[in-house]
Amino acid sequence: MSTVVVVGVQWGDEGKGKVVDLLAREADIIVRFQGGSNAGHTLVVGGKKTIVRLIPSGVLHSGKVCVIGNGVVVDPETLVEEIDTLQQQGCLTDPALLKISETAHLIMPYHKAIDIARERLRGEGKIGTTGRGIGPTYEDKMARVGIRFVDLLDDKIFGEKLTHSLQEKNSYLGVILKEQVLDYQQIFDNYRRFRDRLAPHVTNTSLYLHNEITRGRKVLFEGAQGTMLDIDHGTYPYVTSSNTVAGAVCTGAGIAPQQIHGVIGISKAYTTRVGSGPFPTELFGPEGETIRRKGGEFGTVTGRPRRCGWFDAVVARTAARLNGVNSFALTKIDVLSGFSTLRVCTAYEYKGQRYDEVPASATVIEHLTPIYEELSGWPEQLTDIRSLDALPANTRRYVERIEQLVNVPVKMISVGAGREETILIRPTFF
Ligand code: IMP
Repeated sequence: MSTVVVVGVQWGDEGKGKVVDLLAREADIIVRFQGGSNAGHTLVVGGKKTIVRLIPSGVLHSGKVCVIGNGVVVDPETLVEEIDTLQQQGCLTDPALLKISETAHLIMPYHKAIDIARERLRGEGKIGTTGRGIGPTYEDKMARVGIRFVDLLDDKIFGEKLTHSLQEKNSYLGVILKEQVLDYQQIFDNYRRFRDRLAPHVTNTSLYLHNEITRGRKVLFEGAQGTMLDIDHGTYPYVTSSNTVAGAVCTGAGIAPQQIHGVIGISKAYTTRVGSGPFPTELFGPEGETIRRKGGEFGTVTGRPRRCGWFDAVVARTAARLNGVNSFALTKIDVLSGFSTLRVCTAYEYKGQRYDEVPASATVIEHLTPIYEELSGWPEQLTDIRSLDALPANTRRYVERIEQLVNVPVKMISVGAGREETILIRPTFF
């Protein structure tokens, strides 16, 4: 295999950053293909924590090319800040190591203002977005009024598009949302500064990837968010505004379906969700609190406490099918040490009907009953363990049961945040 896609199979925050960072050792090129700075991938190397939001998580490996594909929505201010921080750490010193698609859409200040104002107006019914302008930017893309990097490169075109958009957005912000209107010149000048910084990276990334894949170079596609947040297949409307499934690599990076050779699904050994929306295995009592505390379950981008619950095999099974997952990486299993009993959801029940896959209606998901199976827990700490054989018997049983329920082999188990705190069951992915 020379190309591999990494996707989250839950509601995001599965630990994709760590897995991508590890796999990046074997890859030549690492590519983001959807989402934007709503993602926050945490990397811990040598005890030092780095959070990347837009630049692919492989960036800490020297000499790897990082690509931001056309399917990503880019906040240029965040991107410039991220480049600055990484350069201070000695990464991304050569501009050729970061490539940005010329057709990626720009997040504009009015997208963020609209996102935040709408959430406030929704009150109790809010989606719980990250407030980064993701939804409004994808809306403009689909409405064919978005502004792309290729537009930013030309002052005249950028000025015209900005004038047109701002007229409409300012009346929406001012009249409907009762927000402050935004100033054309200020946006124009700021975006010109961002353009000067980012222009050396802007290119036809679709063609670049095609040529590199054809040459046999190893490419890793890094998903953001998770399958249950997919705009088509997730728990709509409590989702993000992009397709998060592996198929989105074709549209979001501009490559052909035959050029995808493998898919790795990332799942926590339990489940978390941030923001609103149904979550069948959510724990509201002390068990959920224990997982949140031990797992440090607070949002990377927003700092919000994450909702925590038992492993949900229905979610993982649905996601494995949708993504064509070949193997799983199971993360944060160390957090489960100390529970005498663990529960795993094997199916749902609603009004006498059994569900083996996630139903379409958010209302049904909200009201269904999870069917649980109980497994014995383990008291041992797992963080120093590096082989499957050295895991406590009950931990191995837990992993095996997940494999059976989801029908996908587990290839990697993460027992801590650090790069080295990992059990590789099968050593190579490419
Ligand atoms: P948006 O992507 O900011 O529009 O937020 C929509 C929903 O997706 C909210 O519930 C967010 O909390 C969730 N979300 C977006 N990005 C992430 C992520 O990277 N991890 C987890 N949840 C996310």
